[in-house]
Order: sequence, then C-alpha cells, then structure tokens
Amino acid sequence: MDGNRVATRSITLRFLAQPTDVNFGGKVHGGAVMKWIDQAGYACAVGWSGYYCVTAYIGGIRFYKPIFIGQIVEVKAVVVNTGTTSMHIAIEVSATDAKTGTRKKTAQCMTVFVAIDDAGDKMKVPHWNPTIPVDIELQKAALRSLETRNNEAGEFVFPD
Ligand SMILES: CC(C)(COP(=O)(O)OP(=O)(O)OC[C@H]1O[C@@H](n2cnc3c(N)ncnc32)[C@H](O)[C@@H]1OP(=O)(O)O)[C@@H](O)C(=O)NCCC(=O)NCCS
Repeated sequence: MDGNRVATRSITLRFLAQPTDVNFGGKVHGGAVMKWIDQAGYACAVGWSGYYCVTAYIGGIRFYKPIFIGQIVEVKAVVVNTGTTSMHIAIEVSATDAKTGTRKKTAQCMTVFVAIDDAGDKMKVPHWNPTIPVDIELQKAALRSLETRNNEAGEFVFPD
C-alpha cells in the first residue's frame, strides 16, 4: 500500500428514497435500510484501511422512524474503534423532507468490518485514537457493543 496514503475516517452517502425501496406499508423497506448501512460501512472501512473489507458483524440496529419515498436519505458512517484487522464503524441514517427541510434520525447501528488483501489474508488497519469527548464516547459505545456481542446467544444450531 502507498505509505503516503491518508486514511479517511468518515463518509456520507446521500440519495433519494426510490419507489423501488418501498415495503408493503408504503414506506422504505427495512431491508433497503440495512443494505445502505452495509454499503456505507463498507465504503468507510475501505477508506480507512485502504483494503477491500468484509462485513464481520452488524449489531444493535435500531429503527427510530420510517423513511418515506422521495425523502433525502443520508447514511453517515464513521470509524469509532480499531483493533488489529477490524474496525468498528458507527452508522447513522437520517431522512430529510425536501419541501420542508425537516430532518429526522431514522436508524443507527454498530458494524464491524475486517480488512482483507488480494490473497484473502486479514490485514492490519491504521489505529484510531479518539481525543475529543464525542469520539471517546463513540469508542466506548463500540466497546460496549463488543461486550453485548460476547454475551449473545452464540452460533445457533437449527432444527432439521
Ligand atoms: C470476518 C472474517 C474475515 C473473520 O475471520 P476469522 O478468521 O474468523 O478472523 P479472526 O477470528 O482472526 O478475527 C479477525 C478480526 O475480526 C474480528 N471479528 C471476527 N468476527 C467478528 C464478529 N462476529 N464481530 C466482531 N468482530 C469480529 C476479530 O475480533 C478480529 O479483530 P482484530 O483483528 O481487530 O482483533 C471471516 O469470518 C469472514 O470472512 N466472514 C465472512 C464475511 C462475509 O462474507 N461478509 C458478508 C459479505 S462482505
């Protein structure tokens, strides 16, 4: 990798909610929001690490409010914690009514991406060191999500 490369810590995807994103109730499908979360997290992880990245975990997803077709969707992704090869990326989704300019937070979650090279080996990622209160709190949230995940049910065995 280029030694002079500058890691980019955050990214915001911005687009219109399309009629094809609609669910049976006429609002944006939860699955569409999850896809946007994964896309924003991926782009952020690649921008930080400089490698192709895979999603290892998406957790703590909370849908606060519905998104309506035609609203301007913003998906913000920011690196909040780094390990050796993994990055915690916090995601916030918001929707703005173009006519009124009213913006509402619609979802948030914590994701983990792992950097991978062309041979499929895990790669070291640049270290993130938070210094200001908002970033320190975000890192704490990422570490809390690690604890929660470790207390989760583990891998399920499904009945035949
Ligand atoms: C994610 C993946 C690369 C981890 O590989 P692995 O050999 O199990 O790796 P390790 O146990 O050594 O973990 C590697 C890193 O990922 C982290 N990690 C692995 N599984 C994780 C999980 N479920 N949640 C959070 N972090 C996880 C580890 O903590 C470790 O972090 P660190 O290097 O910063 O300490 C591997 O499981 C994989 O390829 N999964 C499929 C990914 C995929 O297909 N995603 C969907 C499409 S992109």
